[in-house]
Amino acid sequence: MLKDIAGWNQLPADWERLIALEPEGCFVARYDGRDVGTATVTAYQKRFGWVGMVLVHPDMRRKGIGTMLLRHGIRYLERKDVTAVKLDATAAGKQLYLTLGFADEYLLERRQGRGETVDSPADPSIVSTRSALSGVLDRLCEYDGPVFGADRSRVLRRLIAEPEVQSAVAVDSYGAIRGYIMVRYGSSRHYIGPWVADNADVGRALWRWALSRIPGEPFFVDVCLANPDADGIVPREFFPLQRQLIRMVRGENRYPGESRRVFGIAGPEMG
Ligand SMILES: CC(C)(COP(=O)(O)OP(=O)(O)OC[C@H]1O[C@@H](n2cnc3c(N)ncnc32)[C@H](O)[C@@H]1OP(=O)(O)O)[C@@H](O)C(=O)NCCC(=O)NCCS
Repeated sequence: MLKDIAGWNQLPADWERLIALEPEGCFVARYDGRDVGTATVTAYQKRFGWVGMVLVHPDMRRKGIGTMLLRHGIRYLERKDVTAVKLDATAAGKQLYLTLGFADEYLLERRQGRGETVDSPADPSIVSTRSALSGVLDRLCEYDGPVFGADRSRVLRRLIAEPEVQSAVAVDSYGAIRGYIMVRYGSSRHYIGPWVADNADVGRALWRWALSRIPGEPFFVDVCLANPDADGIVPREFFPLQRQLIRMVRGENRYPGESRRVFGIAGPEMG
């Protein structure tokens, strides 16, 4: 499988989610009867499109397949009147995206660690049962929109409904949402994210909740370095770097979102 060759952490569920979100926006390049490359795009209203899963078989690189897949995705978005395109690039991907007019926005770092049991009593401001989550879902989607820069309720609703995804929402004493976090399986490690919070205290409380869900088990988190509080909660000394990612944008970045409230992204393939 292509993604195994690249050592990616995604599971079939991650591909299925993207296909369900944008069935016409998922592309496979075929050569000589073989699948040799993939790319997906997801439109977030008309605000921007998101590119993910850009992968070309190692034997077939530097032959223009990545470029062709990207051009295909960009054209698909343009046909839907979506002119801004965003993505989170690996170092190899960045070289390709630069040739297609993408520019750097900010850095992310994939850091790794293990979950741990947290002794402190359960935080009453954090709701995580399925029934409590369904009661706050509409408000959660509203809360997330300005942070992400576009309505991604389809993604959030789908993630929360997936039985393998564990989610928690921080709610203040007035019932207002102050942040949320999710933990899901990956092929080699759990993945923590999306992780959004109004401030470091809420961010830390959610982080501790997430770690306590996976005691002793390995995870990745893609930390948003545009938010110094995120870097402080997941310091590199304790959570070593696995790889850097660069958030990039092509076209006018009219809806940048609020990166100061982003602690961890939902995944490079989704934003
Ligand atoms: C990144 C990747 C998709 C590129 O696919 P590709 O089919 O080799 O890309 P192309 O042949 O279309 O490259 C077009 C141009 O991008 C640049 N480029 C692509 N890969 C490059 C690399 N490894 N180093 C330097 N420049 C590179 C070059 O300018 C290249 O043009 P050239 O070959 O005429 O010099 C492929 O290397 C890959 O699958 N890598 C592993 C997975 C990954 O990191 N994906 C990106 C996720 S964000």
